[in-house]
Parts: sequence; C-alpha cells; structure tokens
Amino acid sequence: MCGIVGYIGDKDAFPILIKGLSRLEYRGYDSAGVALISSKNELNVYKCKGKVADLQRFTESKDVSGTIGIAHTRWATHGEPNDVNAHPHYSSSEHLALIHNGIIENYAVLRKQLESEGYHFRSSTDTEVVVFLIEYIQKKNNVDLCTAVQLALHQVVGAYAIAVVEKGNPDCIIAARKSSPLVIGVGENEFFLASDATPIVEYTQNVVYLNDEEIAVIERNKPLRIVDLNNVTVTPEVKKLALNLSQLEKGGYPHFMLKEIYEQPETLKDCIRGRINVEGTHVALSGVIDNCEKFANASRIIIVACGTSWHAALIGEHLIEDLCRIPVEVEYASEFRYRHPVILPTDVVIAISQSGETADTLAAIELAKSKGAFIYGICNVIGSSIARATHSGSYIHVGPEIGVASTKAFTGQVTVLSMLALTIAKVRNTITEEKYLSLIKQIQELPERMKETLKCNEQVKDLSKMFTYANNFIYLGRGYNYPAALEGALKLKEISYIHAEGYPAAEMKHGPIALIDNEMPVVAIATTDSIYEKTISNIQEIKARKGRVIAVVTEGDTKVCNIADTCIEVPKVSEELCPIIASIPLQLLAYYIAINKGRDVDQPRNLAKSVTCLLYTSPSPRDYAAS
Ligand code: AGP
Repeated sequence: MCGIVGYIGDKDAFPILIKGLSRLEYRGYDSAGVALISSKNELNVYKCKGKVADLQRFTESKDVSGTIGIAHTRWATHGEPNDVNAHPHYSSSEHLALIHNGIIENYAVLRKQLESEGYHFRSSTDTEVVVFLIEYIQKKNNVDLCTAVQLALHQVVGAYAIAVVEKGNPDCIIAARKSSPLVIGVGENEFFLASDATPIVEYTQNVVYLNDEEIAVIERNKPLRIVDLNNVTVTPEVKKLALNLSQLEKGGYPHFMLKEIYEQPETLKDCIRGRINVEGTHVALSGVIDNCEKFANASRIIIVACGTSWHAALIGEHLIEDLCRIPVEVEYASEFRYRHPVILPTDVVIAISQSGETADTLAAIELAKSKGAFIYGICNVIGSSIARATHSGSYIHVGPEIGVASTKAFTGQVTVLSMLALTIAKVRNTITEEKYLSLIKQIQELPERMKETLKCNEQVKDLSKMFTYANNFIYLGRGYNYPAALEGALKLKEISYIHAEGYPAAEMKHGPIALIDNEMPVVAIATTDSIYEKTISNIQEIKARKGRVIAVVTEGDTKVCNIADTCIEVPKVSEELCPIIASIPLQLLAYYIAINKGRDVDQPRNLAKSVTCLLYTSPSPRDYAAS
C-alpha cells in the first residue's frame, strides 16, 4: 500500500509532509517523494528510491520552501522501485505533479492513446499515465484542474487515491479516490490530506473521509469543497477521530496480524485483479503465458521455499500434478541448496517467498540457475532480491505483511498457485472446460467466501480460552488440506510458543496416535472432499482414545459434528481451493490462543519477518513480469 500525505495552510509544508510520511512507514514502501509549490511559485518535485531518511538527505541542498505540498511513499505495483518510478510524477510539461495509491487497470490502453498524441513517458508506472492524461485534457479542453481531473477519472478503470498540485497555483490541492482511502484533516486555516488518519491525528481530530468517486477541492482559506465525477456538490461530513496513533496504524485492530487476517478478502481481490477476464472464462498469469513453452514442455517442476511458503508449495504440488499432470517435487530451500540435487535444463523451478529476501530460497535459485533450469518466482515484495533473481514470475499483490506470522501472504500464494495451475493446464489441455470454468468462478468468489468464513471469529475466540494452557497440539488434514494442517500448526507454534505438529490424518496410526489422550487437543480439517469419509475414520480413531477434536467442517456438516467435540463451519468450496478457506479459522485460533497467553503476536520471540541474506549476492537486474 502506498502512503499519501498533503498539506496546505500557513505553516512550512515540508516538515509536516516528511513527518507524515514517517507516520506511514508501517505500511511498507520502497521509495518516497514530495512535490512543493515554493515561495517563488515554482513546482519542485524531489523523490528517490529508499527510505524517508534518504529523501531527507536528498533534499538537504534543495529549495523546500512553500506552504503547500503533497508527499508519497511507494509500494511498487507497476515498475521497479527506483528514482524514476517514485512518486510524485510530473505531467509531460511539468505543469502538474501527482501522487497515487492504487492500481489503474487500463493504464496500458491510456498510455498508448497518449503516446499516439505524441507524449513520451519517463517511467513504467500506471500513475504517470494519470497525470499525463489530466494535463492532456486540461490543455485540450482549456479547463481548470478540478474539471480536468473529473474528465480524466471518467476514463480511468481501477483503484485510485490521488492528489495533484499545479504550478503557479499555490492555493489549491485536488484529491480524489476510488477503492483506495483518503482522509482530509480540517484544521485552523489549514488542511491535511492522507491515506489514513495517522499523519493527521496529532494536528486535528476533525476529519472528512472522502467517498468513492468524490473529488476534494482543498483551497487555502476557503471551506472544503467536495464534488463527484459529475460535478454534483457533496456536503463534507466532518467526523471526530476516536483512535490514537498506535490504533490507527493498525486500522483500529489491536495487532497487525488480526488486521492482516481481516484484510484477506480485499487482498485476494488485489491478487486476482487483472488475471481473470470479466466474463470469467479465462485466467492468465502473464509470466506463465510469456514462458508457456517452458511450462508446457517441463519434464518436472521443483518448488523451493521455506516456512509458510513451503506449505503453499505443497498445495502447489497438488494443484499442478492434479490439473497439469506435470511431476512436481517440493523442497525445503535450506535442504535443496546443500544436498547436491539433480537439476536438469528441462526442469522448471518455482521459488515462493513473501519477502523475496529469504537467504536459503535465494541460494536455491542461484544453484538451479547455474544448472540451466528456468526459474519462476512467486513473491509479494516488488523488486525484491528473489523477484530480480528469477527469469520471470508473479507478484501476489497482498500489500505489505507486517505481522511476522504470515497470513494474507499464504492465501495470496495459494491463490496465485491455483491460477498458475489453471493457466498451465489450459496450455497443456489437461483440464476439462467444465472444471476450468468452475475453478475460475470459485476463485472469483473467494473474497466473498472469505468474508463468510471470518464470521467464525467470535466462536474461535471463545474456543481459544479452553486451550490457553495446552502444552501440545496435533493438526490433521488429508490431500489438499494436509499442508493447511501443517500451516495451522506453524501459526500456533510461532506466536503462542505451544508445541504443535501437523500430520497427514492417515499417518496417525503409524505412531503419533500414541500421543493421544484427553490432554491432547487435535485440530482436524474435515471438509467435504473426495477423501471425507476417510478423514471421518481418522477422527473416530482419535475419539476412541479420548482425544479432544476441534474439526473444521463444511457448513451444514452433520456427520463430523456428531463425533468431534467442536466444529467450526466454513463455506463450501472445491477441494483445490479449500486450504485458502480452511486456513482462516486456524489463523484466528492461533492468534487468540497467543493473545490469551499474553504473547507479542506481531513480533514473536526469536523470529524475524524475513530470514535475509547474510552474504549479499548481487542478482542480475532485469524486468519482472509483474503479472
Ligand atoms: C511464517 O509465518 C513465517 N513467518 C516464516 O515461516 C516464513 O514463511 C518463512 O521465513 C519464509 O519467508 P518468505 O516467504 O519471506 O521467504
């Protein structure tokens, strides 16, 4: 998520903008910039890759005067993190400067139209297309900035929160939003603008939340004016902020982890966006399409990853073998890199990493590359080391994951893997049209299914109290749900510090069932799928030995609910997608047990968000098919 800050009033803007960007650093970003209208009425844009501190150093010798400005921290979605792609973006003639949070889905079409009008772009961002379009419309129609923004946004498809300032006009900021939040702080003879209230709360408690397709005309010493895209006036509704700074950073949630669990319906929309056509008849990861002969002719696919990403890899194995009929091997990157593996030039290696900086995964990639394999990355952080080290790849687009325990990245990874498998299966013609269309439809419906699944929150919160003092847990699943069981166990381990093991449910009778007694809680994922009856048998084996069973079941289940001690119902989805849904109650169970135990769920002991490179390797720079 990018960060937006704006100011217009009687104070120097620059210090307020920089402090505001610092307040938004929790959102994660890779570059930062400001646009100021100076005391000489010049429009100055200063921006650079790196942190806010780097921007401050960069502007030490610059003219940062002026009482109006906008500022931005960028979380890259289109285009590498670098100085050119950083915001603000100038318009073609440098008459305007604009910042943006969101994704413009039709930017390529708009860019081509503007290029045909003779425009030349400096960056590879979707944002630059918007500011060029606004200037093009302003000049062509000879209209004011607000009207030009209104007309331009009628042509834009996608999510945006924008702010724009105009050279020679030091008394006005124009802001607009659709699907990306924007808040306006109303002070004494001054206004503040931001992506959320964290940069505003220390100056004023009076805020106006802009609504979708509304444009704010923020003018010095004038009342705030809001109009919609059709220039119909909207009365600003001033609200009082009720949250403190810390609560605001977490969006009102007590912890980033819970915020990120609840973000998943939205993050999945971002993950899917632009990859399935509106009619729901075609799914395509551009990185796969661009290299489809590699996947179509692959003799084997090796997936390397660590931790939660390794669990996603196991689900990927099921999906690809099931749908594409290509042999898949899943490897712990830390083992793969040292065991002298056999890697063939006909192999395709998929590397999965949320951070894109995990040392073992990076090393595994370099090893596979040295053997001539084609490497495909599935990462969250744009332009990360792993993203740049692979030949191509797909971003999961779930936004910065701050909580150390991975939640939204896991469901994003599995969703991308399901779209990857469908893309390949279509190329290899190994899937029926009926199955293909059914899975596409269900992927499109996943955000809604997730919202329904999150309704189990209160039930899980109450249930968690029974297990605050448990010393061990066993998590069971079969088929696609076995990796989900492993992931549920890892969630509990890493934030509550309770020992937990995941097993294939049928494996219990080969030893681990000796652990079962009435002190041993067992979480069983028993959703209705092709091996449902066998999972029921496994649960009966546990109950026969006095084990306490918490079952995750498909809503309306009656069989398991007659056997298990507690059932948590989740919506019905096909078994290929079930781990995405079944993981939600397990994320919540781990979270609430850890809270009950007083753990620091966002920063668990001994853990880092990313186990990064100790010896930095300089991966070859390259474009990355940000599909
Ligand atoms: C998951 O909750 C952990 N934070 C950890 O297992 C993580 O998944 C692992 O370190 C891999 O990180 P990556 O996805 O950034 O490569």
